[in-house]
Amino acid sequence: MVVRREAAGAGERPAGGVLASGTAIRETVVRPAGAAHRRGGRRLAAEGRDADAMTERCLPAPSLFADPVFPPTRYQGSKRKLAGWIWEQVRGLPFDTVLDVFGGTGAVGHRFKLHDKQVTYNDALAFNHQIGTALIENDRQRLSEADLVRIGRRDPAVDYDDFIERTFSGIYFTDAENRWLDVAVQNIPRIRDRHRRALAWHALYQSCIAKRPYNLFHRRNLYMRTADVSRSFGNKATWDRGFDDHLREHAAAANAAVFDNGRPCRALRADALDAPAGHDLVYVDPPYVSGRNVGVDYHGFYHFLEGLTDYTRWPGRVDYDSKHRRLKPIASPWTRAETNLDAFRRLFHRFADSILVVSYRSDGHPSVDQLHELLAEVKPRVRVATLDRYQYALSTNRKSREVLLIGGARRKVGIEDSESRSEKWEVGSGKLRIED
Ligand SMILES: C[S@@+](CC[C@H](N)C(=O)[O-])C[C@H]1O[C@@H](n2cnc3c(N)ncnc32)[C@H](O)[C@@H]1O
Repeated sequence: MVVRREAAGAGERPAGGVLASGTAIRETVVRPAGAAHRRGGRRLAAEGRDADAMTERCLPAPSLFADPVFPPTRYQGSKRKLAGWIWEQVRGLPFDTVLDVFGGTGAVGHRFKLHDKQVTYNDALAFNHQIGTALIENDRQRLSEADLVRIGRRDPAVDYDDFIERTFSGIYFTDAENRWLDVAVQNIPRIRDRHRRALAWHALYQSCIAKRPYNLFHRRNLYMRTADVSRSFGNKATWDRGFDDHLREHAAAANAAVFDNGRPCRALRADALDAPAGHDLVYVDPPYVSGRNVGVDYHGFYHFLEGLTDYTRWPGRVDYDSKHRRLKPIASPWTRAETNLDAFRRLFHRFADSILVVSYRSDGHPSVDQLHELLAEVKPRVRVATLDRYQYALSTNRKSREVLLIGGARRKVGIEDSESRSEKWEVGSGKLRIED
């Protein structure tokens, strides 16, 4: 399979991303005859499920033979727009199995899956594990219209708890929306198939994120939506759209990402330092800690989604002293400059027998040089690729650059033609400068 890159024409919506310069990149995945995801189509046909049956059951019906599309995300640190660049950097390496150990939205794992790799997705958070299950592990299930109706509808036979309405009034969503959430979150576990259930969770999380100012749960700031003021930012129309409507849109987007590459892909929920070793390549994209020691606290930013996923135990996990009713905090070595260097060292040693690929930002802590040294403890050769001119969402920092450090396997295989060196790559221009 090859990935063809071309500039998108006027009026077209690019699937592959937009460069800071405004140039749109469209990536077309071109599969050779008999490629893996057609195997999925053949398998469905063999089971007697023809395209018409699929059309009835799915919402809206993605074509069985259309290329899977990764859904838009509003997640901090998502590599959705960088997944094509990352793939270009590693595609020549000798690997077949991949562990995406800080999986997040699954954007990079999904890209590897598209290229027929056997992907293991991992993330420490329960809600992300559902996302990995929906988009990476799931190879055929899709949500139907009937599923969506059932999620949003109060079943008279069920005695629903109203924990969200009682606990989060005036914090993130309106009272009516909280009531809707209490119902949806107790209906989703009733979906029997776990992959369809995971897709429903995914659609619910995306709906919650889309309706939040800043797309986060870090503050009690419902007033930003409801205050009668003129606004210079934000998207009030999106915030105010109903949950049912959002759910439908995000379910359709998730359905379109589902495909079978013929490999047993799976999703795990483990601390990165406990994730299983033995993959040919481990992709490492940990929380970013800025040079000023401000780390991205995923558990803190997305605690509400974690609570939705653990609804029955949520009341016992809330920090009632916090104004925004976060979950009781959990210490992580990955969010502090004092501890993340050692965490990197432990991670690199744990996965020393795999090719190690690390996504990083040039202004992070530890520095790129420190990280390079750490990788060199377990890898004889390290390559550093830098992407120029990438603008991070919501960031005013124009100096930060996206970096990829690549360390070849320790014993058996080395990176072809690699030496310790740095490369600068400008997507779009196709230029590659090598700095020795
Ligand atoms: C930078 S994000 C990864 C983004 C991902 N590559 C994507 O494209 O969406 C870092 C992820 O690490 C996860 N995480 C944080 N601490 C972790 C840990 N100790 N073990 C595993 N995952 C962890 C967070 O939940 C978050 O999703």
